[in-house]
Amino acid sequence: MGIGAGDLLEVIDEVDSTNRLALERAAEGAPHGTTILARRQTAGRGRQGRSWLSDDGALTLSVVVRGPVAGGLLPLRAGLAVARTAGAAARVKWPNDVLVDGRKVAGILVEQAGSDAAVLGIGLNVAVDLEALPDHVSARAGSLGRDASELDAVRDELLVELTDALSLDAPTIVQLLGARDALAGRAVAWTTSEGAERQEGHAEGIEADGRLKVRLPDGELLHLAGGEVHLL
Ligand code: BTN
Repeated sequence: MGIGAGDLLEVIDEVDSTNRLALERAAEGAPHGTTILARRQTAGRGRQGRSWLSDDGALTLSVVVRGPVAGGLLPLRAGLAVARTAGAAARVKWPNDVLVDGRKVAGILVEQAGSDAAVLGIGLNVAVDLEALPDHVSARAGSLGRDASELDAVRDELLVELTDALSLDAPTIVQLLGARDALAGRAVAWTTSEGAERQEGHAEGIEADGRLKVRLPDGELLHLAGGEVHLL
């Protein structure tokens, strides 16, 4: 059964955070593929403890993922699925932002839900009015430029792409991401954890296990397992 197919899709008008609600559903035993979509979030969660502003014209949904695909490559699988939904120009900025023309059109937040399950949250700007956003958000944000009437169609495309990305083997995911890697060959800066030293180098693609390869100015190759990476 596909992600969010049939009874697995729950659409609600308003919730604090679809990730929070999906984690609750996962704890109650909700099956793989259970999807919660909210038309409005009042306290959306972002990465690194940040909040996520949900606007009209955005798709905000969370999926309960169970089994081996709930593991380390899940953010990249999701990034690939979102990028394919967003179109040929969309790129994945490791580990899990999706950019179009250098602007962030989607954010992805994976939260563990026990030992063999995770909740995958996606916020995708489909028909967002960027001028209505606060300056600090609109400076980097993008939107697909679709019409609000297309939200359900884009949701369905995304669910199909997610179903596909969760069924592919790891080498295929990494290979497909290679063609959509926003960082490959670019000068980047990164911190591996909060408070860690900022480093600079060049991104050299994604390793088979999902880690980002970065080359330091002295030639040393590092493999990043997580953290924040910025294009320079
Ligand atoms: C990021 O910081 O880039 C990740 C943002 C993830 C936002 C989505 S919106 C749907 C889901 N529910 C949440 O509370 N957050 C995620």
